[in-house]
Amino acid sequence: MSTDDQKRAAGEAAAELVQPGMVVGLGTGSTAAWFVRALAARRLDVRGVATSLATAELAASLGIALAELNDVEAIDLTVDGADEIGPGLALIKGGGAALLREKLVWEASRRCVVIADAAKRVRRLGAFPLPIEVVAFGHPSTARRLCDALAECDLTVAPRLRARGGVPVLTDQGNVIYDAPCGSIEDPAQLADALKSVTGVVDHGLFLDLADEALIGMESGVERLTP
Ligand code: A5P
Repeated sequence: MSTDDQKRAAGEAAAELVQPGMVVGLGTGSTAAWFVRALAARRLDVRGVATSLATAELAASLGIALAELNDVEAIDLTVDGADEIGPGLALIKGGGAALLREKLVWEASRRCVVIADAAKRVRRLGAFPLPIEVVAFGHPSTARRLCDALAECDLTVAPRLRARGGVPVLTDQGNVIYDAPCGSIEDPAQLADALKSVTGVVDHGLFLDLADEALIGMESGVERLTP
C-alpha cells in the first residue's frame, strides 16, 4: 500500500464518522484533502469550516457548503492531518503553513480526529522541524528571541525562515513561518509555553491534548488510536 493509499484510507474512514446536519472542520494538507473528497462523495447535508484558503477552494469546488468560524457556535467534528503523531496523540502540525487556523478550528471543535499514513507515528516528537508562526513585522528580531526560548528548553537550534524561491512563505494571515529543527522534543508542554511567551510569536505547531483519536492508514487497514 503506497503512502498515498494509506492517507486515502484514513480520509475515507474519517468521512464515515460524519453525520447529516453536522458542522465539520476541514483540515489542510494532502491527507485532509482525501477526507474532503470522501466527504463530498457522501453528499451529506453538512457545513464545512475550512482551515485554509486552499481547503476552502477544494471543498467549494466539490460542492461542500462552507461556513466561517465566526458564524458557527461550535464545530461538531474536525478531521485533519499531522506531520508527526507522538505518544498521547501529541502532534506536530503546520507543514502546510495552516497551523493557526487549524488550531483555532480544533479548539472550537467537540471532537478532533487526526488522520495520517503510518510513517507519521513517532516515539518522540521533533524529527520534523517545528513550524512557528511569527508576525512579519520585526520577524528577524523575534527569531533571535525564539533562539533564547528554545535554549531555555535545552534546544540549541536556529529556526529557519520558511521561503520558496527565495521569498518568505506567508500564511493566510500574512505572517511568516520559522521552522525549528529540534531533533527530539523531550518536554513538548514546556516548549509550547516557552514559545508562546515570545512577543511576535502567534502560535506554533505543537498540538497537545487536542486530538481525541487518530485514524492511521496501515498495510493491514485503518488503525484507530486514542490518547
Ligand atoms: C498543514 O498546515 C498541516 O498541519 C498538515 O495537516 C500537515 O502538514 C500534514 O500534511 P499532509 O497530510 O500533506 O502530510
